[in-house]
This record gives sequence, C-alpha cells and structure tokens, in this order.
Amino acid sequence: MRSEIVVVGAGGHAKVCIELLRAMGEKVAYCVGAGDVPDHCLDVPVVNGDEHIALLRREGYSRLFVAIGANGLRDRLATLALSQGYSLVNAISPKAVVSPSATLGAGVAVMAGAVINADAVIGDLAIINTGATIDHDCQIGVAAHIAPQCAVAGNVVIGKYSFLGIGSRVIPEVEIGERVTIGAGGVVIANIEAGVTAVGVPARNIKINRT
Ligand SMILES: CC(C)(COP(=O)(O)OP(=O)(O)OC[C@H]1O[C@@H](n2cnc3c(N)ncnc32)[C@H](O)[C@@H]1OP(=O)(O)O)[C@@H](O)C(=O)NCCC(=O)NCCS
Repeated sequence: MRSEIVVVGAGGHAKVCIELLRAMGEKVAYCVGAGDVPDHCLDVPVVNGDEHIALLRREGYSRLFVAIGANGLRDRLATLALSQGYSLVNAISPKAVVSPSATLGAGVAVMAGAVINADAVIGDLAIINTGATIDHDCQIGVAAHIAPQCAVAGNVVIGKYSFLGIGSRVIPEVEIGERVTIGAGGVVIANIEAGVTAVGVPARNIKINRT
C-alpha cells in the first residue's frame, strides 16, 4: 500500500491544497485532472480523466484528497473515491488555529490563517479558506465553502453545498440553508432559505434555484 496522496483536481485550488498537504509532511503522488489541464500542477504530475481514480487505486494508492472548488462536484468525486476504497485525508494548514473541541469531518481543507473555535463542527469536504473565522458552536455543512476572510459568528448553521463569498460576514444564531450563495462582502443578518443567492449589506435575495 502506498502512503502518498492522490489529489483530485489540478487547478488553483489544488495548488493551495498540495502545499497544505506538504506543510503537514505528506507527499502528493499525482493530481487527477479533467479536460484541458496542464501536465503538472505545481511539480505534481497530472493524469487526465476520472478513470485514473480507479487505476491509481489498483496501483496501491489509498489516500485521496478532492481539491475542487465546485461544492457538488467535490462531493460526487469524493463519493466515487470512497466507493473504490480510498480514505479521504484532511488538508489543514499548520498556520490555522483549530480548537481542540472542534470536530472536523473527512476531506476537509483549512487554509492558513483560518480560525475554528470551540465546539464548532465542520462537515466532510468543507473548505475553510484563507483567513476565514468560524466561531464557537457553528455547524458547517458537507462540502460547504467559506471563502477567504469570511467571519462567521457563534452558533451559525450553514447547510450542505453552501458558499459564502470572499469577505462575507454572518451574525450569531443565523441559519443558512443548503446550496445558498452569499455574494462577496455580504452581511447576513437573518436566516436564508435553501437555494437562495443573496448579496449586499444586509444580504438580500437576488435569485433562488429550486433544483
Ligand atoms: C453573488 C455572485 C455569485 C453573483 O453572481 P451572478 O449570479 O453571476 O450575478 P450577477 O453578476 O449577474 O449579479 C446580479 C446582481 O447582483 C449584484 N451583485 C453581484 N454580486 C454582488 C455582491 N457580491 N455584492 C453586491 N451586489 C452584487 C450585481 O451588481 C447585479 O446587480 P444588478 O442586477 O442591479 O445589475 C457573485 O457576484 C459573487 O459575489 N461571487 C463571489 C465570488 C467569490 O467570493 N469567490 C471566492 C473564491 S475563493
């Protein structure tokens, strides 16, 4: 069994995650890209096509990280990898601060400067991006993405696949549903229902996707 990690994704987010994994002392063997991808991501060779997830598993790789920004796709590819017998590793920057009482799922990315405070629960495949802060008792859903410099106050619930754009803010106790998008710089001061895109200060709904 090989201990090096397979990274799914070969774009800018993958570059950041490779460097997080290396900062943890891990080695990355391959990136699995799709479409028009370069042959290397940083200095990691890229193999093209999702079929390589299974091929690399047969070669003995068993540890994998999905470094894809699109929330639903990240979850689908992680589910595929799990069905093939991979385990999902976490990519946690040594320069992040994670409370010992926080709970992190599998396949989670926590970038440099992020802070996760007491009793927060971070779902599988979530991204807590550079400098984002998640305060006490928050619940961050599966494959949610909290972009750089977001501030999420205490006791906030954020649903599966939701995305908080760069620099957005959420006041305490608010519940944000699944598949919500908050525009860059938005300030959320009330609950937001599933599928909504909301922008501005305070954040107001501009569209809803009911699928
Ligand atoms: C919210 C967002 C997803 C909307 O994108 P979109 O669906 O393509 O929407 P549009 O660009 O058509 O904008 C629709 C309206 O909302 C306004 N709007 C869009 N984003 C806004 C924002 N962040 N704050 C305030 N208003 C915003 C637009 O000006 C437009 O207003 P108008 O109808 O009066 O002209 C996008 O603008 C955004 O903020 N993305 C965040 C990206 C980010 O943070 N990435 C980090 C990656 S790590």
